[in-house]
Amino acid sequence: PRAILFMIPSGKPLDAMLAKIVPLLDKGDTVIDGGNANFHDTRRRSAELADRGLHFVGLGVSGGEAGARFGPSMMFGGTPQSWDRLKPILTAIAAKYQGDPCVDLLGPDGAGHFVKTVHNGIEYADMQLIAEVYGLLRDGRGKKPAEIGKMFEKWNSGRLKSYLMEISGKVLTSSDPKTGKPMVEIIVDAAGQKGTGRWTAIEALALGQSATTIEAAVAARSWSAVRETRALGEKLFAARPVSDAPPLDEADLEVALLAARIIAYAQGLSLLAAASDEYGWSLDLARIAEIWRAGCIIRSAMLDDMARAIRAGLPQGVLFFAPEFRDDLDRAQNSLRKLIAHGALNGLPVPAFAAALAFFDSMTRARGTTDLIQAQRDFFGAHGFARLDDGTTGQHGPWTMG
Ligand code: 6PG
Repeated sequence: PRAILFMIPSGKPLDAMLAKIVPLLDKGDTVIDGGNANFHDTRRRSAELADRGLHFVGLGVSGGEAGARFGPSMMFGGTPQSWDRLKPILTAIAAKYQGDPCVDLLGPDGAGHFVKTVHNGIEYADMQLIAEVYGLLRDGRGKKPAEIGKMFEKWNSGRLKSYLMEISGKVLTSSDPKTGKPMVEIIVDAAGQKGTGRWTAIEALALGQSATTIEAAVAARSWSAVRETRALGEKLFAARPVSDAPPLDEADLEVALLAARIIAYAQGLSLLAAASDEYGWSLDLARIAEIWRAGCIIRSAMLDDMARAIRAGLPQGVLFFAPEFRDDLDRAQNSLRKLIAHGALNGLPVPAFAAALAFFDSMTRARGTTDLIQAQRDFFGAHGFARLDDGTTGQHGPWTMG
């Protein structure tokens, strides 16, 4: 049997190639899609090829150009038969974390591409959080890019150690060969996106989840695209008051970034768990954290702790309830609040941090405010509510139409 790997843009180009190649294949052959496909397409293509006796593998591949040359992290979605056949090749080319290849069969059909999509969603959140810290330091404290880069390089030797932290430090300390200016100062501040971050947010909502930190990062990229609108807004609201709140210190920023990163992962993992239930994938979340430990864009020192915490069982499925991360959140809580207050009072946008804190505060408060929402729903539509005292459901309040 043959195995054919496509690494081409997802969507129509892949369907066009499949239309050409499938008639030439024999039963038992495997087609592998190594692109960033939407997992709904992968499920459809898997079913179509299965009808013809062919295997289809949705292979999430992360690692960029360096990963392509020196070993990526790979998230395999497909049949056990195709995994058995391809395992020797994929484990040989995968990045290794202390000898353990960063590739595994994660589930059938779209499982690999779904995990890759969430990986990218977390990637968006992490990048955005780092960019928000850069903004606070640049616009709030007047720091030069190189100074911020040095700070990031220092943080990269601590608990924040990660590929994205490392490259952010390198980027900020780089100069434009043409002008000698800091590289970031000549780059247009409008971010591109190819869809995976947006899909993560869409799928989260579709599954009754809310990956708000990731969604905030997607929104921030969209807002960045409307440069003329932002320029007009700055002119119209030029008199924005600047607070005299004391500046944040470096330690606050460092621990707040760590806390928000953990919260973004927590939301990503909950989304994976929800999708696993919905699609019957039996995803092994600890194994997913393990195969993200090397090769991929979100690789970080924290992932090993995460895998261990998940294996030990997350209380209520929440990553930051695990002992390994509880302390980080406890220590960082105050700094996270200071960071967001500082941003708000000075007009410096911190949407991903704010989303992370709102999630944390909601998940750590036993009594919420939806008793009022339930009463409102019952008032205008007789939707009914459950009583706290005797547990009866479908109850109604004493409201009268008015
Ligand atoms: C990776 C990257 C890779 C790609 C992103 C960029 O894991 O290697 O995530 O897949 O660089 O898709 O996505 P955007 O263009 O949407 O930022």
